[in-house]
Amino acid sequence: MTDKTGGLAGIVVGETAISTVGKEGVGLTYRGYDIHELASKSSFEEVAYLLIYGELPTQKEFNLYQEKLFQLRKLPKELCAVLELIPGNTHPMDVLRTGCSMLGTLEPESKLNDLTQIANRLIATTPGMLLYWYHFHKNKKSIKTETEEKSLAGHFLHLLHGKTPDADLAQALDISMMLYAEHEFNASTFAARVTTSTESDFYSAIVSGIGTLRGPLHGGANEAAMELIQYFKTPDEAAAVVRQMLIDKKKVMGFGHRVYKISDPRSDIIKNLSKKLSEKASDGNLYKIAERIEKLLWDEKKLFPNVDFYSATTYHFMGIPTLMFTPLFVISRLTGWTAHIIEQRGNNRLIRPDATYKGPTPRDYVPVSQRG
Ligand code: ACO
Repeated sequence: MTDKTGGLAGIVVGETAISTVGKEGVGLTYRGYDIHELASKSSFEEVAYLLIYGELPTQKEFNLYQEKLFQLRKLPKELCAVLELIPGNTHPMDVLRTGCSMLGTLEPESKLNDLTQIANRLIATTPGMLLYWYHFHKNKKSIKTETEEKSLAGHFLHLLHGKTPDADLAQALDISMMLYAEHEFNASTFAARVTTSTESDFYSAIVSGIGTLRGPLHGGANEAAMELIQYFKTPDEAAAVVRQMLIDKKKVMGFGHRVYKISDPRSDIIKNLSKKLSEKASDGNLYKIAERIEKLLWDEKKLFPNVDFYSATTYHFMGIPTLMFTPLFVISRLTGWTAHIIEQRGNNRLIRPDATYKGPTPRDYVPVSQRG
């Protein structure tokens, strides 16, 4: 049995006005707006503005904001040089972690380069960081990290595939990025807030968030879910193997949640996108395999898919390499982390909890030469 007392489960560690997660066991809102409404009517840039500046933009503010992100995409040549030095077999999360850190040495936080400016710069440049490194090592090409695509989702797909993306794919990626943007005191956001609480700089808080998101119990679950789904040829084969995994007490990545008790409100949205994209995909049967795993987990353990499970097949059907799934989560979650860093700074106190000591009772020090 898992230790139910650990992991700060159920402990309230602060106040926030940014989002609500799992009120009545289900919902998700960003600054009072329901995620279903945002996902069906809004865009990633609008949600980014809402999270960072606190309110939805007017049309004029939105146009200016989109243009600002558009203008900020170019990478400094020193950053490109570092990306070229990072080995081609590095995990892309480590590339982003290093890229953000490097940008922090070139454009550090200061009175002239404040937190929101850096946040926008990171949102605009992270697709370029990732894909400059990717093409340099995979295709031996130094790509330009600017495109004519207005949306960040379109920009990412254009940089990845080297052409204007299909509108359905760009829209699906845009929606998925809205779903990933913010999630209250999740592990990576909390890590960013802890770093912020020491009065450290913005980049350090973001790098803390990236390192924390990387693990398979958090953002890394979308990559692990894809590896699992792709392993099977048929839904029956998947059901047999996953059933055995449950018997062996192995975790199935992309299922379960610390806060949601009935379902993850983001999951039905991303599942619909995955279904739609599977209809045009050459390996669309992966969707049926995923559905079968979902049914099995529910029937056997009453475990439901979280946002990561169907994000995996959705991204796969867009032709996105599996190792870039969690980095995409970073690009989106930069917005939520930024909102939390602003909130933490606005009412800061060092985050430093207590622990129950379980070690040896006081004892005498024996010099090394006298130890047996
Ligand atoms: N597969 C199989 N069993 C599971 C799963 C799963 N995915 N999730 C929970 N369980 C079981 C546990 O084994 C445990 O069983 P036990 O009581 O018999 O020991 C019980 O359900 C409770 O699980 P915990 O791990 O204690 O729940 P916790 O709240 O600590 O963890 C977490 C939540 C980490 C999300 C967990 O469900 C998990 O590991 N899921 C897989 C990883 C994953 O998908 N992470 C992404 C989360 S969403 C996000 O970060 C965007």
